[in-house]
Amino acid sequence: MREPEEIGRSLLAWYDVHARTLPWRVPPEKAQRGVRADPYRVWLSEVMLQQTTVAAVAGYYAAFTARWPRIQDLAAADDADVMAAWAGLGYYARARNLLKCARIVTAEHGGRFPETEAGLRALPGIGAYTAAAIAAIAFDRQATVLDGNVERVMARLFAVEAPLPGAKERLRGLAARLTPPARPGDHAQAVMDLGATICTPRRPVCSLCPLCGDCRAAAAGIAATLPRKTPKAVKPTRRGIVYFARRPDGAVLLEDRPPKGLLGGMRGLPSSDWTVADPEPAPPCTAAWTVTPGAVRHTFTHFHLILDLAQAEVAATTRPLRGRFLSPEEAPAQSLPTVMRKAYQLAAGGQS
Ligand code: ADE
Ligand code: SF4
Repeated sequence: MREPEEIGRSLLAWYDVHARTLPWRVPPEKAQRGVRADPYRVWLSEVMLQQTTVAAVAGYYAAFTARWPRIQDLAAADDADVMAAWAGLGYYARARNLLKCARIVTAEHGGRFPETEAGLRALPGIGAYTAAAIAAIAFDRQATVLDGNVERVMARLFAVEAPLPGAKERLRGLAARLTPPARPGDHAQAVMDLGATICTPRRPVCSLCPLCGDCRAAAAGIAATLPRKTPKAVKPTRRGIVYFARRPDGAVLLEDRPPKGLLGGMRGLPSSDWTVADPEPAPPCTAAWTVTPGAVRHTFTHFHLILDLAQAEVAATTRPLRGRFLSPEEAPAQSLPTVMRKAYQLAAGGQS
C-alpha cells in the first residue's frame, strides 16, 4: 500500500476527471482556481443530504434556493412556509433546526457562517459530519468528513472487519490520515463520489477504482462484505387512527402538530396517538366516521406505523375540537409529511 499522500493524490486526480456535476458543487477546475462554494448553499445541501439521496434532494434544493437565495431570506421566512417546503424530505427536526440556524447566523454572525468546525458545531442542527463538510467544502479547512460513503471506502481500503457502529472512530482515524492539507474540500467530495459511484454498497467496481492497487479488501476478495454491521434490533409496529373530515366546500380538517416530537411542527390530519397497544380513538369532531382498517403504512427510523383511516363528510357548520378546515389550495397534499400525504391522497382520491 502506498503512502497516504500518494493515495490522496490519486483520488484527487480521479475526481478532477470524474467529479459528479451537482447543483451545489463548485467543479474541480474552478475550485482549483480558488472559486469557493457559497457556505449557505453548502450548508443547505448538506443538511438536506443527511439521510437522503442526491436524487431526492435535487428538487428541494432548487426550490429552496429559488425562493430563499440568501441566508437572510431564509431567516426572514415564515416557519409554516419552510416546513411546508420541506414536506416529504422527512426528519423534520432538520427543517426546524435549519430555520433556527439561519436566524442565529443572520442575527448574531452578520449572515456569515463561522469558518471552524467548533464554531459551526455550536449552531443548531450542525453535528460533527455537517461541521466538517462545511469547513472543508466551503472554507477549505483540513477537516475529516465522515459519512456513510467515507466509512465504506475506509473499511474496504484498510480491510477493517470490526463492525459498525463500533468501528466508527477507527474509520475516522483512517479517513483523517488520508485527508490532505491541500484541497481538503475536493478530497472530501472525491471520497463521497467514489463511494456513491464506484465503491458502492453491494457491487463495488474495483476495476475502475483509482485505489484498486492499494485496497486491502479488494486484494482479499472481501470488498462487497465490508463494512460489517452489528445487527439492528427489529423495529416494533405501532398503530393509530387518522381522521379525514371534509366539508361540502372541499375544506379538510388539518392540525399543526406540536413543535417537539415526531413530525414536530408539521401540518397533518388529526390523529390518535401512535401506540404499540391498540390506539385510543381521538376523533377531532363529531361525525359519522367510516373506518378503513390498516389503510396507511409507513416506516420511520425506529418503528413501522399502520394507520386506520377514518373518513367523514361533515356539515359546513362543524366546529372541530382541534385543528382547522383548510382548502386544498391553502394546504395541498404536497405540503404534508409523507405519511399524512398518503392518508390524504387515499381519502381524497377515494371520495371524489
Ligand atoms: N453526499 C452528501 N454530501 C455530499 C457532497 N458534498 N458531495 C457528494 N455527495 C454528498
Ligand atoms: Fe472500493 Fe474496490 Fe476501490 Fe477498494 S478497490 S476502494 S473496494 S472500489
